[in-house]
Amino acid sequence: MGMAWPRYFILTVFFLPAMVQAGIVRHYKFNVEMTNTTRMCSTKPIVTVNGKFPGPTIYAREDDTVLIKVVNHVKYNVSIHWHGIRQLRTGWADGPAYITQCPIQPGQSYVYNFTITGQRGTLLWHAHILWLRATVHGALVILPKLGVPYPFPKPQREVVVVLAEWWKSDTEDVINEATKSGLAPNVSDAHTINGHPGPTSSCVKHGGFNLNVEGGKTYLLRIINAGLNEELFFKIAGHKLTVVEVDATYVKPFKIDSIVIAPGQTTNVLLTTDQGSGKYMMAASTFMDAPIAVDNLTATATLHYTGTLATSPTTLTTPPPKNATSIANNFIDSLKALNSIKYPAKVPKNTVDHSLLFTVGLGINPCPTCKAGNGSRVVASINNVTFVMPTISLLQAHFFNIKGIFTTDFPGNPPNVFNYTGPGPTNLQTTNGTKVYRLSYNDTVQVVLQDTGIIAQENHPVHLHGFNFFVVGKGLGNYNSSKDPTKFNLVDPVERNTVSVPSGGWVAIRFQADNPGVWFMHCHLEVHTTWGLKMAFLVDNGKGPNESILSPPKDLPKC
Ligand code: C2O
Repeated sequence: MGMAWPRYFILTVFFLPAMVQAGIVRHYKFNVEMTNTTRMCSTKPIVTVNGKFPGPTIYAREDDTVLIKVVNHVKYNVSIHWHGIRQLRTGWADGPAYITQCPIQPGQSYVYNFTITGQRGTLLWHAHILWLRATVHGALVILPKLGVPYPFPKPQREVVVVLAEWWKSDTEDVINEATKSGLAPNVSDAHTINGHPGPTSSCVKHGGFNLNVEGGKTYLLRIINAGLNEELFFKIAGHKLTVVEVDATYVKPFKIDSIVIAPGQTTNVLLTTDQGSGKYMMAASTFMDAPIAVDNLTATATLHYTGTLATSPTTLTTPPPKNATSIANNFIDSLKALNSIKYPAKVPKNTVDHSLLFTVGLGINPCPTCKAGNGSRVVASINNVTFVMPTISLLQAHFFNIKGIFTTDFPGNPPNVFNYTGPGPTNLQTTNGTKVYRLSYNDTVQVVLQDTGIIAQENHPVHLHGFNFFVVGKGLGNYNSSKDPTKFNLVDPVERNTVSVPSGGWVAIRFQADNPGVWFMHCHLEVHTTWGLKMAFLVDNGKGPNESILSPPKDLPKC
């Protein structure tokens, strides 16, 4: 027998812990291709993943490694972002074109390779270049580790609900025309729920998404706003929604009639089918509390109880008026981190290493070729810097130490102090630059995002890549750095990756810079991203063994 270790011992000591800790590897293939589709009673080819609109859902569990091979079969450059995935040390897989990677050129492919650590819930993936996100998007569902329950009653069934916007014309044409003119692009022609607008006045015969349910059960709806430019209200006739999670973080459950969801945000709700029978309308409609043109069509779908005849009438609902700030706030202000023993809210409480004030808003710059804009164009900025896209990705420039691509002088405070939410300054011009704000590993950061009234006070859903942040405060008017912090919630603030800066107000977020790399932050209204409402944080490597950016994969696209 000799000195051989008993087999079970080897298994237990050497293999079992590894098996318990590591997730599995999941492979996906995304063919980005042109697909003919009929929506809104018109036929047009759109860019899709695997011919689907919305695109395929990615399923994984916490701790899994996901490998997605993206093959570009279209004429556009492509990149895909896994919105909300932390990408710990794997910025190469984050996706924003020219920020963390060069785009995948026509005919080329790239394998996104990342591990999901410390996250579970609903997120989304979407193209992160041009306006391809309009049709190139889908759900990303992260289930808890095997055997770990939800912190709420187990639902009977889970349903992904993707909200989006639909244009009759090609979305690349829409934004190209706008860029030429210097003016705002056309608003969408319809909203969609899982790819369908539901019957509309211009297209009555159009069916809609039908959700078949049994009475007396609980369903988990994973609601995603994959739209480009509009925040949406979502509600279901005759039913309350119990909110349990946003942006893949658990919240204290609460019941509500209408949720509001900005592009890039996700909301999980429990729906109890307590009506027993019938058909009920689901509605998605725009939330916009500024004098700005929007798509006024309401997308509808049907909640259909089993045993109810298809011909029986649907119980209708009236969506909130588009400027219903109070209905939106009723939802937003109800969001609190679950903050349980298992899921504590790890809010940076004490020292703040960087206390930043970022104005977000619009501007007007000269544009001699912009005829429709009378020689000027609408732009957008953070701290008056309109971000200029570099020609190679910032992450590559940083990692390989390529000089001259960006500067590290992004201002931590507005360069000009003015009454941000007042009538605004007379000079509406911004400066152009490819500037990043540099952070040391593990620094604690507070960013107050302050809306400006330049052109119009408007709600901006701001998204940060690479991190979740805590929303510690929010208010109207100009942020007051001596009074407002006393009201911050440092106990159970909601944790998210995309937060709405209220029209004419501010929101304060905090995060720990525990992820080395280059991380994009931008308004998730695609029109504002195009106009330059974007910047990046550069987080240096730490000194510890797992505190450095990993080496790039061999197939990382070249510019
Ligand atoms: Cu969902 Cu940088 O975006």
